[in-house]
Amino acid sequence: MQRYERTVSCGRVGAEHLGKKINLSGWVNKRRDHGGLIFIDLRDRYGIMQLVFNPDFSQAAHDQARQLRSEFVISVVGTVVERSAATVNTELATGRFELQVETITILNKAKALPFTLDEAVNVEEELRLKYRYIDLRRPEMHEKLVLRNNVIFALREFMHNETFYDIETPILTKNSPEGAREFLVPSRLHHRSFYALPQSPQLYKQLLMAGGMERYYQVARCFRDEDLRSDRQPEFTQLDIEMSFIKEGDIQDIIERLIAHVWKKALNVTVKTPFRRMAYDEAFSLYGSDKPDLRFGLPIVDLTTLFAHTELSFLRAILDKQGKVGALHVRHDFTRSELDSWVNKAQKLEAKGLLWIRMKEDGSIDSPVAKFLPEDFATHLKQIVPEFGIGSILFIVAGKQTQAWTVLGRLRLELGAALNLIDPQEFNFLWVTDFPLFEQDETTKQWNAVHHPFTSPQEGWEKLEPSQMKARAYDVVLNGVELGGGSIRIHDAQIQDKVFDLLGLSKEQAQNKFGFLLEAQELGFPPHGGIALGLDRLIMLMCHAESIREVIAFPKTQRGIDPLMAAPAEVQAEQIREYGLLFAPQKKD
Ligand code: AMO
Repeated sequence: MQRYERTVSCGRVGAEHLGKKINLSGWVNKRRDHGGLIFIDLRDRYGIMQLVFNPDFSQAAHDQARQLRSEFVISVVGTVVERSAATVNTELATGRFELQVETITILNKAKALPFTLDEAVNVEEELRLKYRYIDLRRPEMHEKLVLRNNVIFALREFMHNETFYDIETPILTKNSPEGAREFLVPSRLHHRSFYALPQSPQLYKQLLMAGGMERYYQVARCFRDEDLRSDRQPEFTQLDIEMSFIKEGDIQDIIERLIAHVWKKALNVTVKTPFRRMAYDEAFSLYGSDKPDLRFGLPIVDLTTLFAHTELSFLRAILDKQGKVGALHVRHDFTRSELDSWVNKAQKLEAKGLLWIRMKEDGSIDSPVAKFLPEDFATHLKQIVPEFGIGSILFIVAGKQTQAWTVLGRLRLELGAALNLIDPQEFNFLWVTDFPLFEQDETTKQWNAVHHPFTSPQEGWEKLEPSQMKARAYDVVLNGVELGGGSIRIHDAQIQDKVFDLLGLSKEQAQNKFGFLLEAQELGFPPHGGIALGLDRLIMLMCHAESIREVIAFPKTQRGIDPLMAAPAEVQAEQIREYGLLFAPQKKD
């Protein structure tokens, strides 16, 4: 019989085991053959312990140890001894000891690995994900999943203590309103009918409020068929919350206390509350973003008035079309080739161009357009940017404000990183509030809900143009990443009707899509609101990972593929028939 009962874990061998006989089991992390002696670093989830195989002690064990390769799974019995002073490894918790092995059982052999644990960071991500279970053996990956576990445990603890109910909602459902494309699941029992996977539990949580639950939360899986990025996956996890009889401030207060609790429990870091608040309009005009990274300054300055009478033809053309001129003011001595590369960067960000203006040592202006600037340019500029002086440079982008400011916002982030203005250890939280209720599609001119169509408008909205209407919506932002978003919902059927009207949704269409919710709105619907935090993003930021794929055990690649299971996969024609699905015949060449 194979023996693999463990008396202690590798990483937990300590002085109390000295001289004692123990059993250890784990993976061969490294093998060093020193002629007579063979050393093995044995690894389990708690750490590493050095094994020594001495032929004088056990010839049989020594013989077996010669077959061992990385990642074999073994079980050993031996005596804990102290290492000689010269061989103590201070980097290991168990570094003062080693196990003098008497017997060894090989529980599982490992063929040559597709990559070693040390190589994992450098191999193609697709290969890493195909063999994710090997990748997960790395202590760095292990730590991230432990953090994830601790975060979810802490947040459940907090929500439970705050008397929230944890309620699951369906995965096989109908479309939900977050605005992304959905994943569809064909029904075998009802041909031509499909379930949609939920983009979020939004509608169910509102119905739970109609059901009198008052305080609900869920660690919820969400599914969105959208273009993937480093902070987006087709399936991801939200902490979803909904509360009745509350205002914006109540939800924000819960979230602030929740985050402070989770950061304390999982990282032992104290988060300062309340978080800073900033209206969307201010965030956009100062930082060109609805999720500004406030770990550094570098706000956008509006130079439109400075150039009001300019004869520079490219600026003139923009200003004549009500465009705007924005700039970032930086103190840094750039070389000409660095400046060229910033111009290139701006063009990659879809700016038509990037103009720079700086002050030379002698106080004169240096810029590709210097000779077209008026004599008193510097004087006027200093009225708007008093800090402009020797060693200063302005990066200027002009255009339609939404576009120019978006480019400046992204340039600001790149400059912040390039000039080391960002403290990577800082956690900078921010509430962005007072979002517009609608945004207009440039081509169709159709108004769309910025958040979703059940978001309550702010008071007085009916007297405003759709572009001016504000939503009772809020986002929580951490270090320039949208961590979560929520809103106070509409609970009045008449307001809901008006919003659908503005969205160009006929009564019939609205009834078809969300009839059940409209009905609930007329059958005793409490005022309510909520929020959802992206948990993958939250954990990614907590451990300073580059992508949410790093904190998900089995993520999809950027192309939406799971290389481990090889999903998505083709299915048999028989199955397709069973589901009542028909495919267009494939073209024959
Ligand atoms: P929203 O669509 O803003 O709101 O989503 C909330 C948060 O979920 C995270 N998130 C994602 N994370 C990873 N991959 C994705 N594809 C992805 N999409 C979103 C983000 C985001 O801030 N029902 C509303 C919430 C509400 O109003 O209560 C909702 O889902 O961190």
